Amino acid sequence: MDGRQFVQDLLAWYGQAARSLPWRASPDPYRVLVSEIMLQQTRVDTVIPYFQRFMERFPSIGELARAPEQDVLKLWEGLGYYSRARNLQAAAREVEAAYGGVLPDSAGEMKKLPGIGEYTAGAVASIAYGRAEPAVDGNVLRVFARLYAIAQDIKAPATKRAVTQIAAQLLPDARAGAFNQALMDLGALVCTPKSPRCGECPVQAHCAARAAGVQAQLPMRSASRTAREEHYGALLLQCGDAVCVSQRPGRGLLAGLWQLPQTATEEATARQATAELARSITGRDVAVSGPLGRYTHAFSHLHWTIDLFAAYSDSDVCADGSFHYADAGQRAALPFGRVFLRMLADHARGGRGGHD
Ligand code: ADE
Repeated sequence: MDGRQFVQDLLAWYGQAARSLPWRASPDPYRVLVSEIMLQQTRVDTVIPYFQRFMERFPSIGELARAPEQDVLKLWEGLGYYSRARNLQAAAREVEAAYGGVLPDSAGEMKKLPGIGEYTAGAVASIAYGRAEPAVDGNVLRVFARLYAIAQDIKAPATKRAVTQIAAQLLPDARAGAFNQALMDLGALVCTPKSPRCGECPVQAHCAARAAGVQAQLPMRSASRTAREEHYGALLLQCGDAVCVSQRPGRGLLAGLWQLPQTATEEATARQATAELARSITGRDVAVSGPLGRYTHAFSHLHWTIDLFAAYSDSDVCADGSFHYADAGQRAALPFGRVFLRMLADHARGGRGGHD
């Protein structure tokens, strides 16, 4: 490939086709960092409203560093992969403590911060600081797998290393941020996972996959692990307008978020298991009705199926102190996992559990 011509064609296209995105309007390092963390594993359209709310509430790294963690999780509610939010706040606190509140301007230094890996460090260093660093995420990997007709497993570390080397060689020192973002936009708008729009591609003349007619077969990926299935019975236990909730442990899946009480069970025993859960929470026998509905939620390697049952209690005292009754106002302030927000929105009296 003629690298110079490729870069010129790509940047000319980016000059007129770049997406107008809120973090691009004023690319200060903190805004770019927040956008890049949110964009990991999440689509641009989904991220935009979250990014705007986050910036209104935490306009600077200092404000994020000083906020209660539950407030940060509340603004992340529904976005998923919540360790990103906790790490982002931990990074903000470290920047306040060790870097005088200014995000370091080198990728190497940034990678020392919690939750900032090779991709994010490269993206922020190039976009916010104009550093000549590559930024290779899944979309950029796909673009290069096609441009160079790389028939290796896209998930293999060796493939990522090879693509990062190619990107670093092509990278124009003076326009690294534009180059990286042009590749991201090309991957999102033209070189899409399915049915790439090769006829509209500004760099089609440089594409080995297009020349060989193999763009639909690339990138190659090895069979992915199938997700583990887990079944739960959950309880909408109400006392007046208050709903019984509990906080998940500080580590692991949905760490620190709030949920409706639930217990792991087989489908056939869900009602009985949920009735036992109601008894352990209230300290009394409680009639359980339902199921009100079946809810599913897909995590990256785990699939939940939850049957939701209803119960009522005339006392808001819990025999088990890890459960609490929260009215609509209290629920609105707590961060819930998305699947529990859906349950609350569908069935709880006294208002929705939160936005969805
Ligand atoms: N995906 C990840 N980072 C991005 C960015 N800065 N612009 C567009 N899409 C992205």
